[in-house]
Amino acid sequence: MPDSLLQVEDVGRTYHGGVRPVPALRGVSLEVDDGEFLALTGPSGSGKTTLLNILGLLDRPDTGEYLFRGCATSALPERRRAVLRGSSIGFVFQAFNLLADRTALENVELGLRYRRMSASRRRDEAAAALTKVGLEDRLRHLPRELSGGEQQRVAIARAIVGGRTLLLCDEPTGNLDSASAHQVLGVLTGLNDEGATVVLVTHNDEMARYATRVLALRDGYLETT
Ligand SMILES: Nc1ncnc2c1ncn2[C@@H]1O[C@H](COP(=O)(O)OP(=O)(O)OP(=O)(O)O)[C@@H](O)[C@H]1O
Ligand SMILES: [Mg+2]
Repeated sequence: MPDSLLQVEDVGRTYHGGVRPVPALRGVSLEVDDGEFLALTGPSGSGKTTLLNILGLLDRPDTGEYLFRGCATSALPERRRAVLRGSSIGFVFQAFNLLADRTALENVELGLRYRRMSASRRRDEAAAALTKVGLEDRLRHLPRELSGGEQQRVAIARAIVGGRTLLLCDEPTGNLDSASAHQVLGVLTGLNDEGATVVLVTHNDEMARYATRVLALRDGYLETT
């Protein structure tokens, strides 16, 4: 049987630096298969973003192990982790984080900034990603010339550009009205249908319903359902 895409094994993560240590994750174990659409829910402060940061190789567990495509990551040097991240993992956040003075196309090209490729190939890849999210007629628009939902779709295009197939989304609909939120989830569902693996952090049960599996965190523990 092939390894899971993501394997979290008894992971703990405690933040130090405040008045007292904050245990944000306590003994979390979880596997995500290639092509899954997983929703992570749970109250504010339950550890969702902490877990997503570990899945995205932005942070390391203090205890336990995280395997990415069967490869233990905790001892990997930062440089190797950055290469894995850049080639395979796209992030989408609540705030769209687009550069205000760059067009949609230029913003998506930024998702390729560490790739070696010609300027024309970069442009083609960015245009293809924007087409996938239904924005092929908005390439030259600045963020302020786009609706909130369209801006988030640009951010999704930036996350997938160049063939990244793991999408980690932290409250991607938190700043959107209901219609735009459903449209964004429609785009994520379409990408998942084409083979992308999606992990969606959300407070919103209606959005979690798009996922094929829903897990809840509470006080740093993964609830068993
Ligand atoms: N850098 C940090 N330093 C210290 N404590 C932190 C840090 N980041 C998060 N925490 C604490 O860890 C706990 C989990 O935080 P986390 O951001 O993972 O929660 P969350 O489930 O994403 O919450 P929300 O739904 O509000 O985004 C919280 O109690 C938070 O205060
Ligand atoms: Mg969070």
